[in-house]
Amino acid sequence: MSHSYSDGRSLNSSPNATFEQILEARLSRRGLLKGAAALAAVSALPLSLGACATTGLRREGRLGFSGITVSTADAVRVPAGYSAKVLYAWGDPVGHPSGSPAFRQDAGNSAAEQALQAGMHHDGIHYFPLPYGSENSVNGLLVMNHEYTDDGLLHSDGFADWSAEKVRKAQNAHGCSVIEVRAAADGQWEVVRPSRYARRITAATPMRIAGPAAGSAGMKTAADPAGTEVLGTFNNCAHGYTPWGSYLTCEENWNTYFTNSGTLTADHRRNGVSAKGRGYRWNEFDERFDAGKHPNETNRHGWVVEFDPYDPQSQPVKRTALGRFSHEGAWPATANDGRLVIYMGDDRVFEYIYKFVSRDAWNRKDRNANRNILDHGTLYVAKFSDDGSGEWLPLVHGRGALTAANGFADQADVLIRTRAAGDAVGATKMDRPEWIAVHPATNEVYCTLTNNSQRGAKDRPATDRANPRASNVFGQIIRWREAGNDPAGMKFEWDLFAVAGDAQHPDAERRGNIKGDSFGSPDGLWFDDGGLLWIQTDVSTSTLNKGHYERLGNNMMLAADIKTGEIRRFLTGPNGAEVTGVVTTPDGKTMFINIQHPGETSSERNDPKNPKLVSSWPDGPAGGRPRSATVVIRKNDGGIIGT
Ligand code: FEO
Ligand code: CA
Ligand code: CA
Repeated sequence: MSHSYSDGRSLNSSPNATFEQILEARLSRRGLLKGAAALAAVSALPLSLGACATTGLRREGRLGFSGITVSTADAVRVPAGYSAKVLYAWGDPVGHPSGSPAFRQDAGNSAAEQALQAGMHHDGIHYFPLPYGSENSVNGLLVMNHEYTDDGLLHSDGFADWSAEKVRKAQNAHGCSVIEVRAAADGQWEVVRPSRYARRITAATPMRIAGPAAGSAGMKTAADPAGTEVLGTFNNCAHGYTPWGSYLTCEENWNTYFTNSGTLTADHRRNGVSAKGRGYRWNEFDERFDAGKHPNETNRHGWVVEFDPYDPQSQPVKRTALGRFSHEGAWPATANDGRLVIYMGDDRVFEYIYKFVSRDAWNRKDRNANRNILDHGTLYVAKFSDDGSGEWLPLVHGRGALTAANGFADQADVLIRTRAAGDAVGATKMDRPEWIAVHPATNEVYCTLTNNSQRGAKDRPATDRANPRASNVFGQIIRWREAGNDPAGMKFEWDLFAVAGDAQHPDAERRGNIKGDSFGSPDGLWFDDGGLLWIQTDVSTSTLNKGHYERLGNNMMLAADIKTGEIRRFLTGPNGAEVTGVVTTPDGKTMFINIQHPGETSSERNDPKNPKLVSSWPDGPAGGRPRSATVVIRKNDGGIIGT
């Protein structure tokens, strides 16, 4: 069944009571408010996308490949007519001019060597053509995040004989890589070594703190009494980029690296800092990770960090105007008046979706003029109403509930305690917001809500129309269109693009409404220049191939045609891995994706004995240990990926 609109375009969604209720509620609301104008208003709804998506695109994407089956093979599988090749795996040299230490399969590389090699657990990724401003599709910079470490694999003997050297190696396996890549005439890609651009940013790299919270009381520590410089970035999950060619790396589960030997503050509790942390054990040799001794050090993490990949000497900058939470990523759109808008999700159960709107328009002619654009602007948090409307609530000190009387000292305090500010203004608690994708022609925004098994549980928030399922193990993709199609709009209309699930699931509610191939726990999300929407899954390794997921195989990547709503499986990943990070070259003929944590099991990370592994990808059984890696996908006929 599909819904038809007055303009004849058909809605993608298959039967879904929740969706129909939303539509009904919206129509009746409009009917109530506008009477006879209601019908006219229907055509302005954000749901009818067809014709818009065919204009303004670089090219028109369509699903031209044969979808593949689910898989439990320890391999990257792609459709007939495509190839997938490993380009850059954990431990491969970054190509820094000072040296290219080879990866040791026994994980015997030192901390110093790790600082010149690919970090662990590749995540968000972006391609920057060389030189800046070109559309070079055969030579560019790949910039990516290394989210976290499995220390059972990182060191030859895991956590045994834990030492300062092991902490340094773990810190050096976090952060970002900048690598130069180029393709030969036959389309074979390689990492350029050495390259003057090659760079590793780690959990120990000095960074400047900028924006309204820089230098504020909450940012000051014994090591940095000015509150303006911090060491490192870690748990960098997804990413973003700006139209002036800088990379944005986003600090997600930063709280798990801290322990607390003293008293947990209210902010520690709100952000999930705990007495014992998650077992990274950095605090044992790097005291700043004991939040009991250094309570403000936690305030210096949970930000978006900007750096210029074209300048290997440039210092990364933490942009405090974009707020502090478990940042999944930071995705740009340009407002109608030229200001920059950054959409961001806070990936934790019952957290919020945000957007930042810059004060100033960005300069298209002079990239240096954009150096401090992200330091001035307004942060908003999203409220999704059950009638299909939504609004952006400003997080500005002195406005609404964000006053000194309510415990917010100033704007720096509002930004450091972003989650508390979101609570105070009544934002909508979502099912773990992950990636956000902005349609390149229509500016319509899509966001993955990966799952939330706690939705509707005792003493937890109930379902609502945007988060419609209790014990939500499969997740959904929400989308919205801003008023006037302007990313800086203050109101929007939303609906659910897809409710994920397993079409064969015995429980009807868990079948979802996907038109096409089943999937769950959507995470990565990206529009290519043809308007195809790429969806990547991150089913946790504790549930992969089990229980609700027993029929869905390994994590995967799919492509969606948003005009028809069809979703088709394009890739399946190795055992124990998540598929995350996707980008193409400007010509659309090479796609780069990341495979993260192959071989991981739920007990893997903290087991010093390196328990039996479920994967030996990509090196094979003779290789040794599994490695996260960047994979190059090409069409054998040299065509555009996906078509
Ligand atoms: Fe690191 Fe939200 O995935
Ligand atoms: Ca993610
Ligand atoms: Ca995830």
